[in-house]
Amino acid sequence: MRDLRISLTDRCNFRCRYCMPVEVFGPGYRFLPRENLLSFEEIVRMTRLLVPMGVEKVRLTGGEPLLRRGIEDLVAMLASIEGVKDIALTTNGVLLAHHAEALALAGLSRVTVSLDALDPEIFARMNGVGAKVERVLAGINAAQAYGLKVKVNAVIQRGVNESEVLPLARWAKENSIDLRYIEYMDVGETNGWKLDEVVSASELLEILSTEFDLAPRDPAYRGEVALHWGHADGSCEVGVIASVTRPFCRDCQRIRLSADGKLFTCLFAANGHDVRDMLRGGAGDDLLQAAVRGMWRVREDRYSEERGIVHRPKAEMSYLGG
Ligand code: GTP
Ligand code: 5AD
Ligand code: SF4
Repeated sequence: MRDLRISLTDRCNFRCRYCMPVEVFGPGYRFLPRENLLSFEEIVRMTRLLVPMGVEKVRLTGGEPLLRRGIEDLVAMLASIEGVKDIALTTNGVLLAHHAEALALAGLSRVTVSLDALDPEIFARMNGVGAKVERVLAGINAAQAYGLKVKVNAVIQRGVNESEVLPLARWAKENSIDLRYIEYMDVGETNGWKLDEVVSASELLEILSTEFDLAPRDPAYRGEVALHWGHADGSCEVGVIASVTRPFCRDCQRIRLSADGKLFTCLFAANGHDVRDMLRGGAGDDLLQAAVRGMWRVREDRYSEERGIVHRPKAEMSYLGG
């Protein structure tokens, strides 16, 4: 394992249809109660124990992680762990302008902002709550101004926002931002995913090639999830996370910790392995590490390679993290 992804909350201030459709995640939805969430101390302890087992990168995710009060304090605590080389945050960006300075000061390395459209109407429709794209752009600007490296992720869904592929690419190039399109995925059980709504990596490349001169580049590291192409003028790169049409399970080094303290060995797993009870029940470091080792040793996950063949229930991404 190398990459630890920590979900800080299952709540979000957006209702993106591909993730948290409002019919399911409406006013009556029961989110995790406060006392079920791991405390910052518990999160830090788990992280510290996972570092000797290989973890170097930590990503804070959600739901929307900026809804978790005091997140800057957690970042500072994680940054002080020896062996943690990189701390990133995945966010919808709406609250980012407000937090960017404190996060940068606390030791955050990078932010990945989800931005599916620049067109105000498409953006408002997609986020399900009418949020304004300017706020996300302001968040990105603030993050850059405080020295945080920024990547942008855009989920492209047929019939929803293919028209935004080129405008997003133009904007990213003008602002020298690493943009990655994400193939719409069948995560969770609520988004009503259909294969024909997936805009594939090859289609995306075809659309991009109508306007840009792109050359493929090698992965930056083993297990990198995105395929990348560089602009011929060397300005920046554009990527596609093609988990549907080109699965990358065989190089997966990601372990996930849910907000309520379950370790998941796959984004598409049904269940996690509870560590909260162990943490709260006084388990020593050796016991916790042995439990994780036991779980990791028998890991056989490769859902994206088995899609359509194997059917079992999957956890929601808003709960487990992206
Ligand atoms: P860096 O290279 O460290 O910036 O991060 P990354 O490439 O892991 O990208 P990021 O964390 O932004 O993940 C991008 C998206 O890829 C996620 O939001 C998911 O949609 C998808 N993704 C990440 N991990 C997995 C995985 O294990 N399986 C699948 N199918 N998709 C994943
Ligand atoms: N398919 C692909 N990407 C998704 N995300 C959320 N749900 C899906 C889905 N069904 C993305 C978000 C965010 C990241 C955490 O995962 O847009 O960029
Ligand atoms: Fe919220 Fe992210 Fe899910 Fe959208 S994709 S609803 S921003 S958790």
